[in-house]
Amino acid sequence: MKNIVVIGGSKGIGREIVSSQINLGNKCYNFSRSNLEISHNNLVQEKFDILNDELPPVENIDALIYCPGSINLKPILQLKEEDFINDFNINVLGAVKSVKSFLNTLKKGDNPSIVLFSTVAVSQGMPFHSSVSVAKAGIEGLTKSLAAELAPNIRVNCIAPTITRTDMAKRILRNEKIEENIANKHPLKKICEAKDISDMADFLISSRAKNITGQIMHVDGGMSTLKI
Ligand SMILES: NC(=O)c1ccc[n+]([C@@H]2O[C@H](COP(=O)([O-])OP(=O)(O)OC[C@H]3O[C@@H](n4cnc5c(N)ncnc54)[C@H](OP(=O)(O)O)[C@@H]3O)[C@@H](O)[C@H]2O)c1
Repeated sequence: MKNIVVIGGSKGIGREIVSSQINLGNKCYNFSRSNLEISHNNLVQEKFDILNDELPPVENIDALIYCPGSINLKPILQLKEEDFINDFNINVLGAVKSVKSFLNTLKKGDNPSIVLFSTVAVSQGMPFHSSVSVAKAGIEGLTKSLAAELAPNIRVNCIAPTITRTDMAKRILRNEKIEENIANKHPLKKICEAKDISDMADFLISSRAKNITGQIMHVDGGMSTLKI
């Protein structure tokens, strides 16, 4: 049985990862501001805010997945310095804090690895994404730096999703017409589901990915690389 720490496992992609890892027979720790409304012998939960609280100690960890993020989309003239700082804090400094808190424990794990989250809006320029793309580009840099620094012991990878049906995206995917338009902008003509992303996270923390590190995995219906 593996021990998986998910920061932000109460909603969206993190919730999907927690549920699939529990189904695989692994033990999951969900550290978020709210708890999942399920109880299970293999689920440990503690309410926690990455911006204000210290992470609780965990004895054994094989994988750390950092999910908190933001979609703060505004034209550049409406973005205040504070927006950039807030996006950097939740996306980048929260991830750094999590990695530092658990690094020594992770080093003793079985095929240990870290998964971070970027966005398709780093490799594809998109209007109104200035603040979040700055923060997520930081995550991509962090992924590569940490992967180099922690090799050969700990693998570090990043997933860069396109817009995905979760709580975070519900203000954007707010009706069927909008969903259809957005799906049609993707080469694969689909809206990405949280399970599409959690499948990639499950793979990256598994032994099947034992030779993969420092990668940005684009789960985006082809959007970042294809023009058709
Ligand atoms: N959904 C998309 O369209 C999309 C697209 C590209 C990239 N991404 C990235 O993918 C990642 C996951 O996104 P998602 O859509 O699953 O987001 P989500 O539905 O908003 O879930 C985020 C999770 O993080 C937790 N969280 C947020 N702030 C926190 C804090 N201060 N302290 C502790 N936990 C906190 C939330 O739980 P609580 O509220 O209970 O704390 C929740 O469990 C993010 O990094 C996001 O930027 C998402």
